[in-house]
Amino acid sequence: MTRLPGKVVVVTGAARGQGAAEAETLTREGARVIATDITDAPGCRRLDVTSDKEWAELAAELRESYGQVHGLVNNAGITWRARIDDVRPEDFARVHAVNVTGPLLGIQHLAPLMPPGASIVNVGSTAALTGHYPVAYTASKWALRGLSKAAATELGPRGIRVNTVHPGFIETEMTASAAPAFREANLRETPLGRTGTVAEIASLVAFLLSDEASFITGAEIPVDGGLTAHGGVKSISDALRDGVAGSGSEGRWPR
Ligand code: NAI
Repeated sequence: MTRLPGKVVVVTGAARGQGAAEAETLTREGARVIATDITDAPGCRRLDVTSDKEWAELAAELRESYGQVHGLVNNAGITWRARIDDVRPEDFARVHAVNVTGPLLGIQHLAPLMPPGASIVNVGSTAALTGHYPVAYTASKWALRGLSKAAATELGPRGIRVNTVHPGFIETEMTASAAPAFREANLRETPLGRTGTVAEIASLVAFLLSDEASFITGAEIPVDGGLTAHGGVKSISDALRDGVAGSGSEGRWPR
């Protein structure tokens, strides 16, 4: 039994990374996937998520071919690793356009084609739950949380669900472009002690699109190996467990 039989689902940013894995998983689950991306890739239809015109064209095509759309995965995203002293307004705006305006346009154009039971998944980030240093990225993902909540409120009465997944450090080209220190620091802060895979995001996205998640909306689910669960206290726990903080007895429980 597949989870998404015959459902028409649009995935943005599907040329590589998490989007490609999501398109693959959803297809395996029986969905008719429209994989889209700004870059040309085999099996991907061109869609720049920041373009109102391109979304309108896609919506018209989908109305013509299928009549309905049952799912949207707002996965496309970009990062920009400038810190608060250095970030330029134009970079801030560019990141916001892809990470926030893109999902807004997708919802505006596709929700009118969605029947009750349809589902939208927005791909946030653990940056949306923390004060992560790349400020344009962090601010955009926090804004996406607000958009998701408002959309869940607005579209709920029409039977359309909107949820957000927050990936931690997932092995893709986006994270491969970061400094090695970024990876190492993430590993230190992640209780499960490893990075995540694109398949571990895709399986949650498939669940949220499916009828198994029929009463879940407005939810935010981290897929981060516990990174955001400890609120910064992992280093304290590690230091005491390793007995580096003094008497050597701190590692024993209870205290
Ligand atoms: P990636 O950089 O490997 O892939 C992103 C895809 O989005 C690319 O195919 C790119 O061409 C496409 N894209 C970029 N701008 C676009 C636009 N204007 N219109 C349409 N497509 C566009 O990134 P990855 O890692 O697969 O990330 C996917 C999502 O997950 C993003 O929203 C990202 O912010 C988020 N994320 C990723 C994490 C990670 O550790 N890899 C962690 C947290 C969140």
